[in-house]
Amino acid sequence: MALKITVIGTGYLGATHAAAMAELGFEVLGLDIDPDKIALLQRGEVPMYEPGLEDLLRRHVAGIEGSSGRLRFTTSWEEVGAFGDVHFVCVNTPQKHGEYACDMSYVDAAFEALAPQLHGPALVVGKSTVPVGSAARLAERLAKLAPAGEQVELAWNPEFLREGFAVDDTLHPDRIVVGVASERAEELLREVYATPIAEGSPFVVADFPTAELVKTAANSFLATKISFINAMAEVCEAAGGDVVKLAEAIGHDERIGRKFLRAGIGFGGGCLPKDIRAFMARAGELGADQALTFLREVDSINMRRRGHMVELAREAVGGSFLGKVVTVLGATFKPDSDDVRDSPALNVAGQIHLQGGQVTVYDPKGMDNARRLFPTLNYAPTALEAVRGAHVVLHLTEWREFRELDPARLADVAAEPRILDGRNALDAELWRKAGWTYRALGRPNA
Ligand code: UGA
Repeated sequence: MALKITVIGTGYLGATHAAAMAELGFEVLGLDIDPDKIALLQRGEVPMYEPGLEDLLRRHVAGIEGSSGRLRFTTSWEEVGAFGDVHFVCVNTPQKHGEYACDMSYVDAAFEALAPQLHGPALVVGKSTVPVGSAARLAERLAKLAPAGEQVELAWNPEFLREGFAVDDTLHPDRIVVGVASERAEELLREVYATPIAEGSPFVVADFPTAELVKTAANSFLATKISFINAMAEVCEAAGGDVVKLAEAIGHDERIGRKFLRAGIGFGGGCLPKDIRAFMARAGELGADQALTFLREVDSINMRRRGHMVELAREAVGGSFLGKVVTVLGATFKPDSDDVRDSPALNVAGQIHLQGGQVTVYDPKGMDNARRLFPTLNYAPTALEAVRGAHVVLHLTEWREFRELDPARLADVAAEPRILDGRNALDAELWRKAGWTYRALGRPNA
């Protein structure tokens, strides 16, 4: 009989994982402690913007016409405990307020609520990004709290999906990593992932600490790559070089690769920044802090980008933001997402606002979230409206919509046709031809 799967926590990770499990043919029950989110999901609606996710959900959510009916949602822990053979824990692990460490309270609460409901054989699989050592600790909690005792096991299975590509990354992962303590756990996970394994996704079996570390190591490497190219951008600016050309040229070396070498205002979002900080904090607790001091530099190069962008904008408007209209194109931390958590674009917008600039923001999908976080900024309904009267335009999130703008039309409505490309993504020639002064980070001023 097919395995029954539960997914605990229905944010980005959980909602996508639940829908993907249903797509793979399993009966799935998703749980969230937020009843509004559950009500939304039950109607086949997604609480965030993620391309393809709503379609996938609607193909499986019970009660939606034409759906497989394999996916249901609940707020009841009892129901989840009685239903599942395999329970995926997908709750978030944000940065703690005022410190670097990761806040484990949601994960801990999920285990405390789930374990007492496990009266028969079950595999609990942690997917959340956690400090190394958490799985061992949580396995002990499970053993203590689950009525079924040794019939309940833990595995750790980190997730590598990217926002904007969540559905594809989940259905066709470039690797599946499992930290297990028994062959039985490995076998169950091979059964869960039989389809992607058959399609060729590598299946890496490890112990708990290695599996936990794979995730933080991967995100640290990606963050390091971005900060490396941003450090090169700083040097290029000082030396008159062109970082885009440099990235292209070093990227031809297969050992280096071209991906994640886009210089700009740096990385943000709900993962990379908090993960490198939590990793440093955890290494400190383990007495291995020296090994990760370079991540402090990675973080500081990254944060410096935002300040640098503000400086360039101030320079562009003549040395002071007072009385100047600044347009910010982009609010999300990256395109194809409505996520504004730790968004470099909004951070820059906020800093300029605090320094007296009149900031107007436009973003294709992130307006509602941005407004909630920064209610004092102005928001325009279109890019054209946002640019009206601008003394400088900042391109801070590389949405396709911005690459397709007509610079000539925008030049007609701007007070000064001046643009700073914080993502090195616009066609400089095109903008200059339309009369704009175009400047980008890490590139010469033509
Ligand atoms: C990241 C990882 O890429 C995923 O593999 C991981 O699963 C996820 O975190 C997570 O831990 O959950 P995500 O946060 O969706 O995914 O975003 P990325 O695509 O990694 O981009 C992160 C930031 O780096 C964005 O602000 C982006 O604009 C910036 N970036 C990316 C650059 O500045 N330059 C680049 O070349 C690439």
